[in-house]
Amino acid sequence: MKNNPIGVFDSGIGGLSVLKQFIRFLPFERYIYLGDTARVPYGNRSPETVKRYAMESTKFMLEHDVKLIVVACNTVSSVALDVVRELSTVPVIGMIYPAAVAALRATVNKTIGVIGTRATINSNAYTDEIKKLSDGDKIKVISQACPLFVPIIEEGWLEHPATRLISEEYLASLKEEKIDTLVLGCTHYPLLKQLLTEIMPGISLIDSGEHAAVMAVRMLAEKENLIEEKDVYVQKPQIEFFVSDVPSTFYDVAQRFLGFGVESPSIVNLNDYSK
Ligand code: DGL
Repeated sequence: MKNNPIGVFDSGIGGLSVLKQFIRFLPFERYIYLGDTARVPYGNRSPETVKRYAMESTKFMLEHDVKLIVVACNTVSSVALDVVRELSTVPVIGMIYPAAVAALRATVNKTIGVIGTRATINSNAYTDEIKKLSDGDKIKVISQACPLFVPIIEEGWLEHPATRLISEEYLASLKEEKIDTLVLGCTHYPLLKQLLTEIMPGISLIDSGEHAAVMAVRMLAEKENLIEEKDVYVQKPQIEFFVSDVPSTFYDVAQRFLGFGVESPSIVNLNDYSK
């Protein structure tokens, strides 16, 4: 099992921001990345549809003998983690729990903001998890859907004046409530860290992918499934990319999310996994 790859799946290319964090904390592993680029975005879809898509991606990962499934998509983590866990024969890590733990550790004034897609925010997954973990502490959670962020970030408008205006609008209510911690509950939002810090100076930003990666180190180490430097020496990350479509912007967007160029992906028809 130890030498099997880690499977990371997402609704599209955004999950590469999560993969980037995994490579940072688990640099000696092999990875299989699956992006459902033919059906992205998931963020405005119904929970039923997201669950169906998540089951297909899970089956794909299991067929590729992964030792761990990382549900990089916050939308899937919010509405379909239970179906992934039910189906999976290997451990599963979603984005909600690691980020909720980190947010509770970071907040001083016990007022936490959460931003995400509509589906993520409507599910209340982050709020419920934070409250569940808060151990009776009175924690205030203020959430805000930011549906315009995904297309803007994919467009590369990270420092565009329009992005600043939209961000200010989205963050206004969170600012008013004086949150001191903000959960970036979407694969895309870590790319806006700089801008969000400028708009809310002093805020603790919680990158869900980063905290999920730290948790994965512990999980794999406990099961003696962690590949360390002494086991193998790799010059560069070992990643196999699978997507359900190659959009014209794929290579540019992937490079922006991952920080390095991506090799040509294999195409997979996820409908084949619908049974
Ligand atoms: N990956 C999604 C998420 O983290 C964002 C893109 C989408 O809406 O599919 O919620």
